[in-house]
Amino acid sequence: MEAYQYSAKYYDRLLAPFIQPIRRRVLLLVKKYRYKVILDVCCGTGDQLKLLKKHGLDAEGIDLSDAMLHVAQKGDAGINCFHQDATQMRYEDEKFDLVMTTFALHEKDHTSAHKIVEEMLRVTQEGKDILIVDYELSEKTSFLSKNLIYFIEWLAGKEHYRNFRSYIKKGGLPELLADTPLKETERHYFGQHGIVLLLLRKEKR
Ligand SMILES: C[S@@+](CC[C@H](N)C(=O)[O-])C[C@H]1O[C@@H](n2cnc3c(N)ncnc32)[C@H](O)[C@@H]1O
Repeated sequence: MEAYQYSAKYYDRLLAPFIQPIRRRVLLLVKKYRYKVILDVCCGTGDQLKLLKKHGLDAEGIDLSDAMLHVAQKGDAGINCFHQDATQMRYEDEKFDLVMTTFALHEKDHTSAHKIVEEMLRVTQEGKDILIVDYELSEKTSFLSKNLIYFIEWLAGKEHYRNFRSYIKKGGLPELLADTPLKETERHYFGQHGIVLLLLRKEKR
């Protein structure tokens, strides 16, 4: 059964209070750095793409879930989201000047998460940017936030929860991004220090 078959319909409404400040921050960064060719990897319901579109900014997204893509394509927002596997994208090298992924890496097994990061790097132009939003649990994360994150991930199902725990145990984004030619340019925290947004510049390998 497809992981988001039932939850796709409720996903945006359920997570809006946590996710909307992040969506707005992404919008501000897209405006600030004037990106022109943008890809949202694992775009889900297309919520971020819709916000960008509302502000006159074009971008496209890819996702593997038919249920999520169905929600993304509903309504008259007219966003471009395609059925495509993020571990083997059908885009040419260095096509985009911003490639983002939000809340996707933690739910993948370690090999797939690495493949997604490698693919994001491949399709990003040198000197341009990758934006990643995901969990980062540390001593600064509030007790409430940590427990809420574990609860949400537990609700998401067995495999999802197993991958999330392994992502945290292995060291999260710092481990996934080690040995990549990515240099941090901006960092923002959300959800009482439980969620991090990283803006990273792709340098020469
Ligand atoms: C937790 S959702 C996040 C969706 C969206 N980025 C957001 O911020 O709301 C993770 C998404 O990753 C998608 N996904 C998982 N593995 C994928 C893959 N290999 N290729 C493309 N999409 C994938 C899922 O279908 C799901 O829509």
